[in-house]
Amino acid sequence: MRTLGIETSCDETAVCLIEATGEFGPDFTFKVLGNALASQAALHARYGGVFPNLAKREHARNLVPLLEQALGEARLLEPGKTNAPKDIEHLLAREQGLFGRMVEHFSAYRKPAVDAIAVTHGPGLEPALWVGVNFARALSSTWDIPVVGVNHLEGHIVMSMMKGEQLAGFEFPVLALLISGGNTQLVLSKKFGTYEVVGKTRDDAAGEAFDKVARMLKLPYPGGPHVSKLAKAARAEALPAGAKLPRPMLNEDNLDFSFSGLKTAVLRIVKANSPLPDELKKQLSREFEEAVSDVLAGKTLKAVEEYGVNTVITGGGVSANIYIRGRLAEALEKEGAQLLVCPSQLSTDNAIMIALAGYFHALKRDFADPATLFAKGNLKLA
Ligand code: KG4
Repeated sequence: MRTLGIETSCDETAVCLIEATGEFGPDFTFKVLGNALASQAALHARYGGVFPNLAKREHARNLVPLLEQALGEARLLEPGKTNAPKDIEHLLAREQGLFGRMVEHFSAYRKPAVDAIAVTHGPGLEPALWVGVNFARALSSTWDIPVVGVNHLEGHIVMSMMKGEQLAGFEFPVLALLISGGNTQLVLSKKFGTYEVVGKTRDDAAGEAFDKVARMLKLPYPGGPHVSKLAKAARAEALPAGAKLPRPMLNEDNLDFSFSGLKTAVLRIVKANSPLPDELKKQLSREFEEAVSDVLAGKTLKAVEEYGVNTVITGGGVSANIYIRGRLAEALEKEGAQLLVCPSQLSTDNAIMIALAGYFHALKRDFADPATLFAKGNLKLA
């Protein structure tokens, strides 16, 4: 089955095409036929965060060129013509310029040999999500191909369940640690497609804390990789911690997180030492990364013991962090549990994860009615 994946939940516009066979299990295999992604990070950098209306405009500008790139790579971009039904103009009324670009596409290319369309419908920035959802609805209606609404978080989970072009070896129940710019959650899954949130942040997400600390240290957005680079330099130079930061909620008897106090503690040190010497910047980055790692590893271990799982899956932008991955893997190994992660470039937002999760839903014919497929900014996993 060929599935087209579409992702526009935040500041990455992504379109891909995968070919997959088999049910969820050892017989499953997939191949990426085409994959196109445009990151808007540089555009949002000057605002120090993602600016929703700018993201929306960029998605509307990028989607058709990325679709053509992905179909081109997959050798499914065939010159010809597709008749576009009139209702798509109405569907795309709010997506500036997208209707015109789609009409141009349909007047130049034939309907591709695709079996299903999978699109992120939440959670994320609602104006950004809507562009992808309406694009998918317009494609579905024009090509007469069924559409699946995918939960972005399930996409991250499914992506990290892969090893190469197959599923990694593991047994349910599994625990997923989702750590991104918008989410920090511990999720228990007893079988594919069922989820129970067993812990979550009470304030900032882990990635949000990285981004806010980066801003205090005058590092570019998105801040995670920059803080991590300075932390690595501090370790290489064997710089001492410099200042002790708290490990919020680590010793509390629950599986929740809190990162806002940690961020405030950094702010206090930054203010007391202004202008901040480069050496202290590195020391603070290191101590911050270690505090976040201690909390993530500690809470994950607590959940592993409580639920008796032997596989932890981690996904989301912060799971691209090599130090955090290492700390999680080390802590789990001591407990006899394994950590599943995906290649770093697939930990951040992409369309492959959406196509993969969408494929498993399409197999069960879990299709959405295009007329009522809506974007939902606060869509929950469970
Ligand atoms: O999953 P993602 O691409 O987007 C959503 O938030 O949905 O995650 C982006 C977040 C940003 O906060 C970014 O700073 C953080 O992931 N991030 C990292 C690293 N790479 C990305 N945080 C820490 N270390 C990294 N290497």
